[in-house]
Amino acid sequence: MSGQTFTIQALQLQDVPEAAQLSSDAFLTDRQTQMKALGRNPFNMKEYQTQSLPEMLKSPRCVILKAVDNETGEFAGFCNWGLIGFSPEEMPVVEGRIQPPEKPAAAPAQQSENENDKENGKDKEKEKSSAVEPKPSPDADPDDPIERLQALTGADLDAWQKEVMPKGTKCLVVIGLSVSPKFQRRGIGSALLRWGTNICDEAGVFAWVHSSEPAWKIYEKAGFQVIRTLDVDLDEYAPCPPPDEGPEAKWGHYVFRYMKYFGSQD
Ligand SMILES: CC(C)(COP(=O)(O)OP(=O)(O)OC[C@H]1O[C@@H](n2cnc3c(N)ncnc32)[C@H](O)[C@@H]1OP(=O)(O)O)[C@@H](O)C(=O)NCCC(=O)NCCS
Repeated sequence: MSGQTFTIQALQLQDVPEAAQLSSDAFLTDRQTQMKALGRNPFNMKEYQTQSLPEMLKSPRCVILKAVDNETGEFAGFCNWGLIGFSPEEMPVVEGRIQPPEKPAAAPAQQSENENDKENGKDKEKEKSSAVEPKPSPDADPDDPIERLQALTGADLDAWQKEVMPKGTKCLVVIGLSVSPKFQRRGIGSALLRWGTNICDEAGVFAWVHSSEPAWKIYEKAGFQVIRTLDVDLDEYAPCPPPDEGPEAKWGHYVFRYMKYFGSQD
């Protein structure tokens, strides 16, 4: 497109360390992420992305796109798209994308179970829920108020997924979206979203996202509609008041928005 100062490409395995740092930088001002970093099992976005992105790159129903600045070659942002219920032939071709094997090595019994999960979108949704709402580690302290918050948001997300994606549903899901603070408000996030909404228009399917508080306006601009919200008073779950913000400082409310792009109706 004329005037576009960046190029969209497939994310590569060697991009993972930079992507993890970029995501950590992008979420630095996100209130929920800041608060979770102070928990007994501190959440660390960089570590989380470092661990999860290689797995997602191996997933046959996941497309991770990165935006690269044309002038400097800098890595400006990336988006993970999950494509639920798409057959291998229907998967969009993205130049340079790692083409994962359709059936990763697994025992036959396990394979059929995995296939069922795929049909239900479970495998992708496990990624989705963990991408946005990292689940507590098995040895996490149950008395940690942040664990209670994660249990609440995790259960809400699970309920939404059951409702929005009954068995056999074909749709897209935004698993993650991060644009480097240096490159924000230049249309990069929108372009990464347009890739998926164009597929929705072509295939006649919907897309959904569990939007972070600060990001929902970009989804709205991309044509998503708010279907449901979860309003959380972060101070109810915070292990301590926000540091270095004065004696009266509050974490405030954080609204998760479940949003849907319905695609063109032709
Ligand atoms: C959300 C995010 C991906 C937006 O990326 P971006 O490249 O800056 O977005 P765009 O430049 O394409 O913005 C498109 C439109 O979205 C809206 N928008 C984007 N960021 C916004 C913000 N911080 N506040 C209000 N509106 C915003 C605006 O309408 C904007 O259009 P405009 O600049 O012409 O007003 C980026 O801010 C980010 O990485 N945030 C932190 C991580 C995050 O929350 N990710 C989403 C997880 S669900």
